[in-house]
Amino acid sequence: MRVALLITSVLLFLTCTNSVRILAIFPMLSHSHYTIGHTLMKELAKRGHEITFVSLFPEKEKVNNLTSVVLDGIQQKYQESKSSLSPFSLHNIPSFLTIFMLNQMTCQLLEEILEHETMQALLKNKDKQYDIVLSEQFMLDGLLAVGQHFGVPYGLVSAIGPSTWSNHLVGAPDIPSYMGSIITENKVHTSFYTRMNDIIQKYVPNSPHIYDIIYNTSLIIYNSDVALSQPLPTAPNMIEIGGFHVLPPKKLPDDLQKLLDNAKNGVIYFSMGSVMKSKLLPLEKRQEILKALSKVKETVLWKFEENLPDLPPNVVIKDWFPQTDLLAHPNVKVFITHGGRLSTIEALYRGVPIVGIPVFGDQTMNMANAVSCGHGVMIPYGDLSEETLTNALKEVLHNPKYSISAKHGSSVLQDQIVNPIDKAEYWIEYVVKYKGAKHLRLASVDLAWYQHASLDVILFLGVVDLLLVWVFYKIARRLCCRSKKNKKQKVN
Ligand SMILES: *[C@@H]1O[C@H](CO)[C@@H](O)[C@H](O)[C@H]1NC(C)=O
Ligand SMILES: *[C@@H]1O[C@H](CO)[C@@H](O)[C@H](O)[C@H]1NC(C)=O
Repeated sequence: MRVALLITSVLLFLTCTNSVRILAIFPMLSHSHYTIGHTLMKELAKRGHEITFVSLFPEKEKVNNLTSVVLDGIQQKYQESKSSLSPFSLHNIPSFLTIFMLNQMTCQLLEEILEHETMQALLKNKDKQYDIVLSEQFMLDGLLAVGQHFGVPYGLVSAIGPSTWSNHLVGAPDIPSYMGSIITENKVHTSFYTRMNDIIQKYVPNSPHIYDIIYNTSLIIYNSDVALSQPLPTAPNMIEIGGFHVLPPKKLPDDLQKLLDNAKNGVIYFSMGSVMKSKLLPLEKRQEILKALSKVKETVLWKFEENLPDLPPNVVIKDWFPQTDLLAHPNVKVFITHGGRLSTIEALYRGVPIVGIPVFGDQTMNMANAVSCGHGVMIPYGDLSEETLTNALKEVLHNPKYSISAKHGSSVLQDQIVNPIDKAEYWIEYVVKYKGAKHLRLASVDLAWYQHASLDVILFLGVVDLLLVWVFYKIARRLCCRSKKNKKQKVN
């Protein structure tokens, strides 16, 4: 009894001393980004840390130790301006334009976040203390100014893996030749940072220049893993926790459980995610899809947000499915997805092969990774038809290599030395404990680009070489002339 008491009090003492006060800022408009931040912070709150969570979405349930701060109005404004535009119409926007739009959008969003009265109140409240500030990476580097403002170490959480967006912040190599995709085409330019700098100077009092802030980032936590794409170069303060948001499967609702158990021919699960609602699919695409689905013998569960007349008998629609739990059911044979980051991770985690219909953003990149890892087939949205969908389903359902690759990927993804949330927790505590953990910093962060590429050294050696060549040339000429002169004198 006494021993038990002692152990409990030691444990309590440990948890108390390690409790970290985190200001977490996840203000992206898309719900999947919110999910990444919220899931991580909720788990950290459960472990006794004190979280202040800033986002654009109101809390669904009260989480102990997590104070939710909602920047209201921003989400609604974008919702209204977006409602006239179907997300499916974004599929043929050229990538240079996507990049331009992203730059515009993120700068505008940064300004709306920082000028928001709730955010301003939070910035002015210097009585409230934090140990670390963590914010969303998605081109919102300007948010790091908040960490600087509170005088504590700060870091980023990235919804994607290492990329040219973030590697330079901690001096890790970013090598476009093999770090592919939309992300690499989008090198963050000086003009972008100049705009961000103007914004933080305006709304975060006494900020140093943005470069002095961003290149002092202590930690970047990535929602990525080698199982999800090729391995990429990292720095010691870049931590990968991909798959962390997939928790052990919960019990399914009874009707769904019955449906899945009774699907003798297996189940195809189909969802285009939370932004690209299937009900927004143009009519002709929807008809092509239904024709393809009516030909398969599997039961199809399709996340479709309104009633659909004349459904084939094997197709069941519902406006929402508990996706990660459902994917764990052994009867699920394939997942038709838009290729969103979280969906592709969840499918791989559960070992389910995918047919991806990417529309925009990082979806093509995620699907290209799934194709090269061997557990997916991609149909770019523009090519989606009865024929392409039928062929893709046939291929994934009947060629065992897809499910073998998916099982392999699932095993690699889950084969971690520690649980990814414990890993995130460890590194957050570590950075707090060592006040920014300067000893993890690569020297390359402090080098100019020409020093980084050793151009100064190459230039110096080049000049020395040229000088040497010139000197040798002079000496050779002199020797040569002298011997000619000598010859002449002899002849005379
Ligand atoms: C947070 O959790 C810790 C440990 O469980 C507890 O001591 C503390 O009172 C909690 N703080 C809040 C604000 O709920
Ligand atoms: C960089 O961050 C560390 C840790 O938060 C801090 O101690 C240091 O003063 C910062 N350096 C600059 C130049 O702001």
